[in-house]
Amino acid sequence: MTAVPALDSIEDVIQALAGVGYQAHRRLATSVFLSLRLQRPLLLEGEPGVGKTELAKALSQVLHRPLLRLQCYDGMEQREALYEWNHAAQLLHMRAAQDRTHVDEIEQELYQSKYLIRRPLLQALQTPAPGAVLLIDEIDRADEPFEAFLLEYLGEYQVTIPELGTISAHSNPVTILTSNRTRDLHDAVKRRCLYHWMDYPEREQELAILRAKVPQASHTLAQQVAQFVSRLRSPAFANAFQRGPGIAESIEWAKALVALDTLQLDPEVIHDTAGILFKQREDIAALQPIITDLLAPEAAS
Ligand SMILES: Nc1ncnc2c1ncn2[C@@H]1O[C@H](COP(=O)(O)OP(=O)(O)O)[C@@H](O)[C@H]1O
Ligand SMILES: [Mg+2]
Repeated sequence: MTAVPALDSIEDVIQALAGVGYQAHRRLATSVFLSLRLQRPLLLEGEPGVGKTELAKALSQVLHRPLLRLQCYDGMEQREALYEWNHAAQLLHMRAAQDRTHVDEIEQELYQSKYLIRRPLLQALQTPAPGAVLLIDEIDRADEPFEAFLLEYLGEYQVTIPELGTISAHSNPVTILTSNRTRDLHDAVKRRCLYHWMDYPEREQELAILRAKVPQASHTLAQQVAQFVSRLRSPAFANAFQRGPGIAESIEWAKALVALDTLQLDPEVIHDTAGILFKQREDIAALQPIITDLLAPEAAS
C-alpha cells in the first residue's frame, strides 16, 4: 500500500486525485484542499453526471480512508442514517430473560451496544483515526426535517442520541454532500459547508477522462466524442434537450463506439447509438435533425 500523500498544496491535490483516475481542475481542487485544511464539510452541487459522487470515492482512495455512503431518498428517516436497535435480537434477549424478576436490569441490557445497528453517520463518527470519508449523496432527495437533523453533525461532527447521549467524532470525517439541485437546500446546511458548483468538464478535461477510462478508443475517436458532447451541452444546442449527457454517458458512448468498431463519428452511427447519450425519447428525437449541425466544424460552438 502506498503512503497517504501530504496534500500540502492545491497542486498536490490535483496530482493525488489524478493518481486515482479523477481529473480535477484548479477551482475544484482548491475547494477540496480547503475542506481538508479547515475540516469543513464540502457541498457539491451540479447536474447529474458531472462527477460529484466520484469525487468522494476518489478522495477515500487518495486518503486511504474507508468510504461510508449515505444515499438519500424521499422519506428517509434518521434511523437509516444514524442507528437503530436490533429489535429481533432484543426480543430474543427478553425471551431468554423472562424468568428473571429485575425488570430494570433487563431493560438496561436491551440497550447494550451489541444491539445497536450502526448506520453510516454513526459509523463515520466512530471510525478510528485517521477517520472516514462520509458521502451524504443526493441530499436534495431527502426532506427538510432530515436536513435539520444533519445540522449538529455538519457543525460539530457530533450527534445526540436519546439512549446514548452525545457522540462526538473520534476523528472528524471528511464529509462530502452532493445535490443534483432538484430543490434548494436550507441556508443552515449551506452555512455549515464549503460550497462548490460543479460544471460539466471542459473539453480537454473530458478528453483526459475518456482517454483514461476508455483506453481502447483511439485518440481521434476520444477527441470526437469529447467535442460532440461538449457541443451538445453548449448554449447553441443545450436548449433542444431536457437532459444533456453527463460524463458517465460520454464514457458509455465511447465504449459503445469502440464495440461497434467505429473509427470516426458519422451521422449514421450517432443516430443508431443515441440511446446511450440520451435516456428520454423526446431528447433522442430532438437529436436526429441536428446531428449534421453538431458534426459541422467548429463555427457554432
Ligand atoms: N473528474 C472526473 N474524472 C474522472 N472520471 C469522472 C470525473 N467526473 C466524472 N467521472 C466519471 O463519470 C461518472 C459519473 O460521475 P458521478 O460522480 O456519478 O456523477 P454525479 O454524482 O455528479 O451524478 C463516474 O462514474 C466517473 O466514471
Ligand atoms: Mg452522484
